Amino acid sequence: MRIGVLTGGGDCPGLNAVIRSVVRKGVATYGHEFVGFRDGWRGPLEGLSRPLGIAEVRGILPRGGTILGSSRTNPFKIDGGVERIKDNLAEQGVDALIAIGGEDTLGVATKLHDLGVQVVGVPKTIDNDLNATDYTFGFDTAVNIAMEAIDRLHTTAESHHRTLVVEVMGRHAGWIALHAGLAGGANVILLPERQFDVDQVAGYVEKRFQHQYAPIVVVAEGAQPLDGQMVLHNQELDSFGHVRLGGIGQWLAEQLEAKTGKEARTVVLGHIQRGGTPTAFDRVLATRLGLHAIDAVHQGDWGKMVAMQGTSIVRVPLIEATRELKTVPLERYTEAEVFFGS
Ligand code: F6P
Repeated sequence: MRIGVLTGGGDCPGLNAVIRSVVRKGVATYGHEFVGFRDGWRGPLEGLSRPLGIAEVRGILPRGGTILGSSRTNPFKIDGGVERIKDNLAEQGVDALIAIGGEDTLGVATKLHDLGVQVVGVPKTIDNDLNATDYTFGFDTAVNIAMEAIDRLHTTAESHHRTLVVEVMGRHAGWIALHAGLAGGANVILLPERQFDVDQVAGYVEKRFQHQYAPIVVVAEGAQPLDGQMVLHNQELDSFGHVRLGGIGQWLAEQLEAKTGKEARTVVLGHIQRGGTPTAFDRVLATRLGLHAIDAVHQGDWGKMVAMQGTSIVRVPLIEATRELKTVPLERYTEAEVFFGS
């Protein structure tokens, strides 16, 4: 078989580890050939590809980003997009696709499968918000990066008796904020799943100062104040209809400074959370997902996504991944609340 591989949506550490394991097992065990499509769905849409053999995947296991490039291209928003993809696959002699992506990329994969394209999906996102898989690779790395930042911010916050607000990514799910906040010993964690009362947060901050410690507030980019509008960086939508989030950290720091009379600063971790080398956990998860994805392709098990459930890698229908977002359950948030303000 000749198999196309693509990576779509926001990049994350571990993408190269998947590409490597798909190609290594696909060539060595099954004798398949590969072609790498560039920049997500733009690759098959425009026929942009590159060779992808054992030589091309040597040395990429620890490398962040994706050697194939990525984009948020939505072929369903382009006139004749699906036909162009089918024509380009036929022209390049590609029998099947492995699409490595999050909600949007896998949403496209699901629809293409319904239209007859032979595709298998691999879940990825630092946000950890995909249904049907317990974890996505990239998440552990992002959490560790954010945790290390919080560790460092504790010492400088203490020295200056300041509040430090740390804004983390995660879109409409609070997984990164919850895990990084717990691991980093944050004094307050604010998630999109539950609107927060800014006066209550100011109360936690004051309590922490009373204990002679400086507070660290971790806020997810999608968190919202009670009865407030979500603070948006701008109102632009991408081709999948998502707004760009960001700005809540700055807004919150200003509010806390005004309410407590103590200086408050903001750190927006941004794309640092997505950059650089993957953790061991993410390398192993990404590698295992790649091995199972090529098995699914070899067996012609189309329209499936490989997923982590418990410690096993299983196959689920692609539609399961994108049917709804996997958000933080209330009980997980309640667990963390015991540390707020203390
Ligand atoms: O989905 C991954 C993610 O990093 C989100 O956490 C964040 O909201 C978004 O992508 C940022 O997208 P971009 O890289 O397009 O700015």
